[in-house]
Amino acid sequence: MVIHMSKWTANKIKNLKGGQKVVCLTAYDYSTARIVDEAGIQMILVGDSLAMTMLGYKTTLPVTIEEMLHHTAAVVRGVKDALVVADMPFMSYQASVEQAIRNAGRFIKEAGAAAVKIEGGAFRVPVVKALVENGIPVLGHIGLTPQSINEMGGYKVQGKKTKEAGLLLRDAKALEKAGVFAIVVECVPAALGRDITRSVNVPTIGIGAGMHCDGQILVIHDLLGLYAELTPKFAKRYADLGGAMKKAFESYKSEVEQGTFPAEEHSF
Ligand code: KIV
Repeated sequence: MVIHMSKWTANKIKNLKGGQKVVCLTAYDYSTARIVDEAGIQMILVGDSLAMTMLGYKTTLPVTIEEMLHHTAAVVRGVKDALVVADMPFMSYQASVEQAIRNAGRFIKEAGAAAVKIEGGAFRVPVVKALVENGIPVLGHIGLTPQSINEMGGYKVQGKKTKEAGLLLRDAKALEKAGVFAIVVECVPAALGRDITRSVNVPTIGIGAGMHCDGQILVIHDLLGLYAELTPKFAKRYADLGGAMKKAFESYKSEVEQGTFPAEEHSF
């Protein structure tokens, strides 16, 4: 495999702290990643949200490392400029530091990702340190961490109480010290998003964390109106591609049924 260096590296994203906003999106396949990259989005996350949006599971928990590798490699093939970050799936890094290094290494070596994302705060420091020391840039993820859905008891706003907010601030600082190049902050009050952003020297990438974060990320299916099952309050729908696709499929069906497709110009 030829390793191609994208214009956007983890270090360049880190250096955007306090300056230009970091604009990120998820993508899960070659064609979509290509369009996202051409639009100038700096960072593409092959999120384990694909368990829900692409594979139809109810949570992110069932997606396997093989499935994540398959989607990550497809995204990498579509991207020239953006930093591609692979999301490490549930139980691919939790068991031990060694397991985390082996599996993160697969995302870099086999799929061509340039960084990985793992969920968790201060307790994840040994894993973050080991990955960074071994040359693998890490994107942190705190706040609502969907891989802990069973423990959290639902997709709820985190850090509303002073004590919880304090723990999240501590988590962000611990991750920064351990060497992450940026931190996803999911589903926390805007004031806490601001405080976390002010307290660390790496960019915070918000999703449901208000307007003060250094950057934003959205799940592409939410932005495009492609995932009807769950529409989080924090997601803005910029297009109704689901509606547009349905209309196109209906037109195709009716033209085939009426014999107007294929026409002369589609025939040999
Ligand atoms: O899996 C995912 O898409 C994510 C983003 C929501 C940050 O983790």
